[in-house]
Amino acid sequence: MPAPAGLLAELTHRCPLACPYCSNPLVLEARAAELDTGTWMRVFSEAAALGVLQVHLSGGEPAARSDLEVLVGHCAGLGLYTNLITSGLGLTQARLQALADAGLDHVQLSIQAAEPASADRIAGRPGAHARKRQVAGWVTETGLPLTVNVVIHRANLARVATIVDQAIALGAGRLEVAHAQYHGWAEVNRQALLPTRAEALAAVRQVEALKRDLAGRITIDHVVPDHYARFPKACMGGWGRMVLTVTPAGRVLPCHAAETIPGLEIWSVTDHPLDRIWADAPAFNAFRGTAWMPEPCRSCDRRDVDFGGCRCQALAILGDARATDPACTRSPDHHRMQARAAGTDTPADIETPDSPPAYHYRTAAR
Ligand code: SF4
Ligand code: FES
Repeated sequence: MPAPAGLLAELTHRCPLACPYCSNPLVLEARAAELDTGTWMRVFSEAAALGVLQVHLSGGEPAARSDLEVLVGHCAGLGLYTNLITSGLGLTQARLQALADAGLDHVQLSIQAAEPASADRIAGRPGAHARKRQVAGWVTETGLPLTVNVVIHRANLARVATIVDQAIALGAGRLEVAHAQYHGWAEVNRQALLPTRAEALAAVRQVEALKRDLAGRITIDHVVPDHYARFPKACMGGWGRMVLTVTPAGRVLPCHAAETIPGLEIWSVTDHPLDRIWADAPAFNAFRGTAWMPEPCRSCDRRDVDFGGCRCQALAILGDARATDPACTRSPDHHRMQARAAGTDTPADIETPDSPPAYHYRTAAR
């Protein structure tokens, strides 16, 4: 069995922001349940032995962990490439330097919009955007490569060009523009977030044009919205193929939303070594490869391209994680995905200071 290339380490669910598009679960893991430093170090050692090359340190906000520098140093000592996925809050210039000294390879900083008032409203935290700009400056001063990432939804997609300008101004070499995925908390806010078909397609065209025009100045990774695509994405690069996710409490998942799938037997790093989990955990074998697939996936020429799409999306929309992803135009249930999108074909609820969208903000894990 091929080794996973990457490990997403959700170090904590604690987070200073309250984003309505958060894809973390509805019920967050409390600080008291988090793995301790020694256990995370063991997990990273097991990951390196298994063949993992890249560790993505995420959350919540990974800087909420006071042992972040120690964990980065341990990964670097193992030869693992480390990517810090951060809101920026909780980092200081001294802490960034300490992380760089410990061997951190890359920083991925989220922003919510280019305009401070809008960005802070989406993040649910006054002053957050100004702090992120400051952190971006520290990252580039430290000499670490910077990627900016932004989640796109109906409140910010019409202004995506300003976000691209801002990423360039912040010194990012790469910008990830990802349309919101309606997992976890984001589903609670779907009506406030989901753009109309016309809005989404206009944004897709604009991002693709910017990607071409700005090639050489900034690399734009564009994650297009499932709701209006012809075929689904190979979620996680295929179930149990490339990536594993470890939750703050140590449960090991094939994707970050896998805990929503009823009956999936999920193993923990507190009970099993990582190589055993990767090879034998029932959750990883549930949708690995193509043998589990129903028609039309089973005989489809794209079954080794997208692996039947997203199991969690099939569950959320059809109530059946084994079904063909309804984002696929070949799915017999594609009309249910279309109906879901059509429910928002109303005039754009573009956020303004006078008419903020009716978000349900996240409350943080304790
Ligand atoms: Fe992918 Fe299945 Fe659709 Fe074929 S039928 S394109 S394998 S989701
Ligand atoms: Fe779980 Fe796509 S998010 S398979």
